Amino acid sequence: MNSEFAFTDFPVLQTERCTLRKATENDRYDIFELYSQEAVVKYMPFTPFISVEDAIDEMKWYDKIFKEQSGLRWMIEDRETQKVIGTCGFLNYEQDHHRMEIGYDLMPAFWGKGIMTEVVNRVMQFGFLNIRLNKIEARVEPKNEASLILMNKLGFYKEGVLRQHEFEKGRYVDLAVFSKLKSEYH
Ligand SMILES: CC(C)(COP(=O)(O)OP(=O)(O)OC[C@H]1O[C@@H](n2cnc3c(N)ncnc32)[C@H](O)[C@@H]1OP(=O)(O)O)[C@@H](O)C(=O)NCCC(=O)NCCS
Repeated sequence: MNSEFAFTDFPVLQTERCTLRKATENDRYDIFELYSQEAVVKYMPFTPFISVEDAIDEMKWYDKIFKEQSGLRWMIEDRETQKVIGTCGFLNYEQDHHRMEIGYDLMPAFWGKGIMTEVVNRVMQFGFLNIRLNKIEARVEPKNEASLILMNKLGFYKEGVLRQHEFEKGRYVDLAVFSKLKSEYH
């Protein structure tokens, strides 16, 4: 059995096509490219990035959540090109309850090829086996078709809908809550 994850060294994970790793300063251009696309941020609580400064701020958040041991955000690096094509990670760690929330995003050019299924499977494995989580939660806007399909493919259970739970970009949005328990993970 692995010993419990201590948030000292940032873990590097491998999937069939990608390397999942810590963000480095050079990634700011890829992060900017990712979050400057309306299609990517459509169901997120912010508008498209307009400068690399926005990406630098986002990356400061990656550092912060790791340092305060509340989450980890992996860069999804395409092993063939070494370009960062998306991100995936945990946030809102509830240590006493062995629970974390998962989040993910990918550049549109790579959608529909099963990449996030591959990535989330690996990140879930790390969550259950290394961080020893009991529950992984995800919150998805009910109109986010691709994310709903992904949840379904990965065998997440839909717990319900938080109605008009957040005020984003001038409107109230519902959030569907999905989860996967360790006992459901094979
Ligand atoms: C959600 C997201 C990460 C999925 O990544 P992905 O690598 O395309 O996911 P996968 O290919 O593993 O699986 C997604 C499934 O949805 C389907 N799909 C992809 N884009 C779709 C779309 N725009 N509309 C409907 N279905 C879509 C895919 O075909 C696939 O189903 P299939 O295996 O039956 O073909 C990606 O669409 C994305 O980055 N969206 C923007 C960011 C975002 O909304 N993140 C989630 C916030 S909760």
